[in-house]
This record gives sequence, C-alpha cells and structure tokens, in this order.
Amino acid sequence: MEESKHVAVVDFGSQYTQLIVRRVRELGYFAKLYALEEFEEMGSPGAIVLSGGPKSTSEADAPDLDFAKLQAYGCPVLGVCYGMQLLNIKFGGTVKGSDRREYGPAALRPESCSGLYEGVSHESQVWMSHSDTVETLGKGAKVLASNQHGTPVSLKWEERFYGIQFHPEVTHSHEGLRILHNFLLTAEELQEFHIEDFKRAMVESIRETVGDKQVVCGVSGGVDSTVLAVLLHEAGVKMRAIFVDHGLLRKDEGEEVRSNFHRMGVEIETVECADRFLTALAGVEDPEKKREIIGGLFIDVFWDSVGNADLLAQGTLYPDVIESASNAKSKASKIKTHHNRVERILELQRQGKVLEPLAELFKDEVRELGLSLGIAKDIVGRHPFPGPGLAVRCPGAIEQKKLDIIRECDAIFIGKLKEHGWYDKVWQAYAALVPVKTVGVKGDERSYEWAISLRAVISEDAMTADWVELPYAILRETSHRILNDVAGINRVLYDVSTKPPASIEWE
Ligand code: XMP
Repeated sequence: MEESKHVAVVDFGSQYTQLIVRRVRELGYFAKLYALEEFEEMGSPGAIVLSGGPKSTSEADAPDLDFAKLQAYGCPVLGVCYGMQLLNIKFGGTVKGSDRREYGPAALRPESCSGLYEGVSHESQVWMSHSDTVETLGKGAKVLASNQHGTPVSLKWEERFYGIQFHPEVTHSHEGLRILHNFLLTAEELQEFHIEDFKRAMVESIRETVGDKQVVCGVSGGVDSTVLAVLLHEAGVKMRAIFVDHGLLRKDEGEEVRSNFHRMGVEIETVECADRFLTALAGVEDPEKKREIIGGLFIDVFWDSVGNADLLAQGTLYPDVIESASNAKSKASKIKTHHNRVERILELQRQGKVLEPLAELFKDEVRELGLSLGIAKDIVGRHPFPGPGLAVRCPGAIEQKKLDIIRECDAIFIGKLKEHGWYDKVWQAYAALVPVKTVGVKGDERSYEWAISLRAVISEDAMTADWVELPYAILRETSHRILNDVAGINRVLYDVSTKPPASIEWE
C-alpha cells in the first residue's frame, strides 16, 4: 500500500504499540508500524507517533533516535509516554527516573479545551504506565495538561511537537481517542484507510509473493483461517486448504466446518489424525510443551499431506504475534507461545516460506475484511477458537474422556447462550475442565468427580478482557443441564477473572 502521508508509528517496545496503529485506522487514516531500526526509512509520513516502551530514558541502552531526522520529516509528532520523555530530552529538558512504576488510572486536567484537548472534559480519566517523569522542561515547552498532583503530563514544543505521558490508545483513557484524533487533525492531507483498500492491497501482495508457486494453508473453521483461505482463493493463487481434525475440536465441529466451506465454494481437504495428536500428547502436562507438540505436528501433517508445497500461509493476527513476542520488530516481552510461532514455523519463516497476510490486523478488522470478501455473517461472527483447540482448555494431561466431557459441557453452554440471544454479545465463551475431584451427591450416591468452569468474556482485541455479567437464568439452566446430563462432572463454576492478570484461555 502506498506510504505517502501515512501515519508512522515508531515502536519503542510497549505492549500496546500496535493498538495505536489500530486506533489510527479506526479514526479512518492509514497507519503503519515501524521498528526503531526502520525509523530513517519511513517515506514521507504525514504524522509521526513515538510509542511508549518498557525502558527508562536514563538506562544506558535506552532506545534512541536521530532527532535531526525526526525534524527533517517536517510533520507533526506525538510522543506517547516514553516518546514524550525522549522528546523532552531532545529539547534540552531532563527526566527523573524512579524505581516505582505508576500504573493505573489518573486524572488529566487540560490547561485549555482547545488544540490537542479540543472537546475534552476539564477532568478526564487517563491510563498511566511509566516510571520516568519530566523533571525540567525542554526549551520552549508549553504545559498543555497536568495530573491531579499538578505534575505536567502533556507538553508541546515549537508548533508541531506534542507529548503525552498517558496511553491514549487503551480504552481506560476515556477520551484518548479524541485526543489522538485532535493530534491527527493538526496534520495535512493524511491518507485515508478503508478495509476495501486493504483487501485490494493484500490480494495484490499475495499474488506478487506467491506467483506460480503453490501455497498450502491450514483451515480450522475459525474466522482467521477462513478469511485467509477466502483471501487466497480471491487472489486466484494455486492453493490447497487443509483441515486438520486433530481430535481437539468442539462437538460436531468437523461437519460444520466442511459445510461452511462448501457454502463458500472453497474446496478443502480433511486430514483425520486425532490418534496421532492424542498419542503425542499423552501424559504431557506442561502448557508450553503441549503447544510445541501441537504446532510441530500441524506442520508434519501438512507436509505429509501436501508433499513439497513452496509456501505455508497462516492466519496469524497481531495479538498472536505480540503475545509470543517473536516478531523481529517487537521489543515486548513473551507471554506464551502461540501455536503459529513454535520453532518449526520460525525456521520456515527464516527461509521465507511463511505467508501471514493478516498479521497486522486485530480480530474485528479481520471480521470486517471477511464481510467485505462476502463471507456469511454467522461464519464471521463465530467466537475465536484457539489453534491448539481443547488442549488449552484441559489443564494437565489430555485424555479422551476429559475431552468428551469438555465437548458436552461446551455445547450445552453455547446452546444456552444462543437460545438467550447472548452468543453475539460476548467475544468468546467456552467450558474448560478443572481436573480436581471433589465430593458431591448424585441420586443417593456419593460422587467424586471433576468440576467444569464456564468462561464468557468481552474484549476488543483479546489483549485485555473482562468477564461478562451473564443473566443468572443462563448460568442456572446451563449448570442444571450439565449436572444432569454430563457424566463425570458434579460441580459447575463461573470464571470471574479479568485479563490481565488471567488470560482468556486456561493455558
Ligand atoms: P489468551 O488465552 O492468550 O487468548 O488470553 C487470547 C485469544 O487468543 C486465542 N488463543 C489462541 N489462538 N492459537 C490461536 O489461534 C493459540 O495458540 C491461541 N492461544 C490463545 C484465545 O482463544 C483468545 O481468543
């Protein structure tokens, strides 16, 4: 996609840097993320955002950039958190480091409700995550806003350099989007962003990269791989879509996936290999080890069934990349290994054999793309389902019996959500096994059985999530059905953990 007058976001390593890109796109402008090493080759951006980052500017190896080059770009610049401290130093000010990180909500009090703060309340909640604070102001700095203690948290230098201490990109900064928009309004002739343009650009780039090679892609029936397969189909490249039934799918899922692809006119090949996966996973308890095994076997299965395809396409999304932190561009720290990021795939990636056209997108953008590709609403609206499937919802060793229990409970729960009109209101819902036996009574008999945990969350991007206050009727009916119909379960729990600190899946 053409890069003139785009918004360039420079990555200093914050977990939320890509969110800035996404917010800018949400505001209707084309934005692109750059690693710090790419800073001098960003073309001619119409605006630049310097992201936050985990380092303190006072550390010896603190990331830095060439200020003369930044000035030479000649466009408005917004420094966020670390970016603001860096700008202040570049303008001759000083920054005070601290061992304590200020993390959480703070009050933002703008000096005036104009410019960057046009239309923003006199006092607004913003989200802070920093250890440095401004000590002395850089040359010509003007304080635009302070926090509840009177400390400057927003500065302006010269006519086009802005700094904000807080993170406008997270939803906890209530008017963050407006502030970001106000900044973008100071730029001239920014390039607009529409998902249709993105689609055209992706189709073109796929054609160019694939040429007359053969590309193989795995489909799971989930939104990401479905959109990927339809995109490859649309690009008209030589492809084979392989559906691996690894035995870790939900109830009746195989049939549903086949019928959905049939509806879309995309041919898929099914490989039944539940035994192979379950044998390899037998007795394995460590979550990272499970992921490694599943990821590795996936590739084996592909390569076994396709022979020697030239390229592997994956429906990896941005949050998957950032949480595995194996993206060469990212300085963020590792949370868990996504199945698309295991060593075998990284090796293929180093050989230039992996294609990930969706890697810059968030889930709801992929859904929008899916709709623009003509994929039916019910397919696009499916809840996310992790590649390693029920394995990450079955803590400890995986056994057929446990998987069967999860499938039954999950189907009951999802059925109830649909019946009560709640399926489309939640981001994701599922049942996970709690492999702890507790005592109960069934009939007149003592029971000693496992528990099942139900989880329903809302999320915008899967990087943070909140549990859903489902109506008691849904929980009561689900629990009643599970306790009556599913052998092996005598206790039903509802998971009320936010992410962070919990993650959405159990492993
Ligand atoms: P967590 O558990 O990391 O989940 O909070 C965030 C989102 O990602 C999904 N997820 C995965 N998806 N492969 C996938 O394709 C994986 O290995 C994987 N792990 C988690 C999860 O379902 C949620 O939507």
